Amino acid sequence: MHQSSLIESNINEYLKQHEHKSLLRFITCGSVDDGKSTLIGRLLFESKMLFEDQLAAMEADSKKWGTQGEDIDFALLVDGLAAEREQGITIDVAYRFFSTDKRKFIVADTPGHEQYTRNMVTGASTADAAILMVDARKGILTQTRRHSYLMSLLGIRHIVVAINKMDLVGYSEKTFRTIVEEYSRFAEQLGLKHITYIPLSAFKGDNIIVHGDNMPWYHGTTLMGYLETVEVDDTRMQQAPFRLPVQWVNRPNLDFRGFAGTIASGVIKPGDRIRVQPSGKESHVARIVVHGGDLPQAVAGQSVTLTLTDEIDISRGDVISTADAPAHTADQFETTLVWMHEDALLPGRPYLLKIGTKTVTATVTDIKYQVNVNTLEHTAAKKLELNGIGVCNLGLDRAIAFDDYQHNKDTGGFILIDRLTNNTVAAGMLHFALRRSQNIHMQHVDVNKDARALAKGQKPAVLWFTGLSGAGKSTIANLVEKKLHAQGRHTYLLDGDNVRHGLNKDLGFTDADRVENIRRVAEVSRLMVDAGLIVLTAFISPFRSERRLARDLLEDGEFIEVFVDTPLSVAEDRDVKGLYKKARRGELKNFTGIDSAYEQPENPEIRLDTTALSADEAADAVIALLKEKGIINGGDWSI
Ligand code: ADX
Repeated sequence: MHQSSLIESNINEYLKQHEHKSLLRFITCGSVDDGKSTLIGRLLFESKMLFEDQLAAMEADSKKWGTQGEDIDFALLVDGLAAEREQGITIDVAYRFFSTDKRKFIVADTPGHEQYTRNMVTGASTADAAILMVDARKGILTQTRRHSYLMSLLGIRHIVVAINKMDLVGYSEKTFRTIVEEYSRFAEQLGLKHITYIPLSAFKGDNIIVHGDNMPWYHGTTLMGYLETVEVDDTRMQQAPFRLPVQWVNRPNLDFRGFAGTIASGVIKPGDRIRVQPSGKESHVARIVVHGGDLPQAVAGQSVTLTLTDEIDISRGDVISTADAPAHTADQFETTLVWMHEDALLPGRPYLLKIGTKTVTATVTDIKYQVNVNTLEHTAAKKLELNGIGVCNLGLDRAIAFDDYQHNKDTGGFILIDRLTNNTVAAGMLHFALRRSQNIHMQHVDVNKDARALAKGQKPAVLWFTGLSGAGKSTIANLVEKKLHAQGRHTYLLDGDNVRHGLNKDLGFTDADRVENIRRVAEVSRLMVDAGLIVLTAFISPFRSERRLARDLLEDGEFIEVFVDTPLSVAEDRDVKGLYKKARRGELKNFTGIDSAYEQPENPEIRLDTTALSADEAADAVIALLKEKGIINGGDWSI
């Protein structure tokens, strides 16, 4: 009995059958008019999962528009849904569900417009297979190559090259063979394996469900036959080493402590030896608990709670691996990043990295190269723009457990999130740990910050002055330092113009360079605080992210943000260095406040309104704050 009639007659039986059918996730890609919509429409139609009224509307529409004579234009179905999307929130990837007697399917339909890269990454990250549509009349196009590259990047293991519109080339075997040969050569370059070529007509139906009579020379599988039998990732992942990213620690009472999550790969049984990562502690599985009892065994895809034979410290975000083949742990990696946001990736800027159930802070330490998805060329890059793909080194604030993405998408794939806006800005794939991180360990030193601060009789801190060029940062910072010095404090002033003559003389004023400028200054400030000094920095430091980075490098209370608040018009009137005039004349590009942004502090420790205070009064206000915060006390030498 076919599914749709079973739904009507015996819903329980239908659901039961469904439960035991495997699920194939796939995507379709190719140029806009290669026939994607027609193909998806036909698959939905042939699997009889279309609702009757949708069908009637489509027949009427086809007749109305007359795009395909008396036949139904299946593209109308999918495009109709696309139009629906346009009215509301834009969902870039539409997931459609259908089923046959043998399998359930989810197809991610990614629109073929400019932001394709982003959409495809979203749709394909969980795909078992991809249908790459090629128009038989046009053959392999730039877009075909681009999508193939993305498929190889995303590790889609099974690819059908659907050579469509065969009806328009007279069902020519020769045309089919030529395209197969050309694509095979290209696929080899990319290292793509498991490729199946099917000549078809999505419009006429040849080789979709049945072979038909038009291409007797083709003896391979039909498209549906392929989709119903191709191996799904879930099956493959059961053979991979055991991984359980811990989602939460379940501790209902003192006698029970379970670690809950969805098994990313492998098989687990009570008694198996496991390793908790990144800590490296080992134990054995005591029980596998699920709703309604214990299991003798659990496999990839199942949500379970494990209890262990030993009391060890495990928290959300840790990975439980089989001890025989554990995940890697590291805090620096080589990765591929697909940038998905309008604001470019800037090396040195901190982002949140989310991998499985773990979230850490990450910075791109180096963009090794950017990949041109059309030509596969590698080019040098200082930043990654929207849809840009780059091979980058990444540094984290602590070690994580991971696998190479090509082996395990769950423990090797991650996203980057902007810390201030919470937007997802990138998808990434981990390649391998950088060896340098494995060979460098923090050295223990006996003379530490406290000892050094004590010797100097002061509490170290950073006074971080920020504001427009000409706001008065350097002037006020200089006065503050003089006053501190007069009190016998140990200080150091890092000033923008000076540091840019030495340490940072390789940097200019692009966003990327400013990020790096501030990152270095933040690191130097940290070292100086560690040396026990009161550090003053006077940099425009226009971006919130990097000021936050500087704050996060220090301990609570050590970072004091001083917002030298001078309106642009006032700074421009003063124009001590004549730079505003130059910028207005267009002789100086990227000038802060003119054609480069300044993001005002939201919660500075102190705001100095230079239109109301003299420089000396402003400096006194800072000194007063230092006393209030106990960094210094009333001019005494000791604290
Ligand atoms: S920051 O943006 O990276 O923090 P920084 O404080 O180091 O800037 O340097 C700012 C100083 O460089 C300004 O006070 C000014 O004298 C000089 N300068 C030269 N070009 C520019 C520019 N395009 N934008 C801002 N400042 C500039």
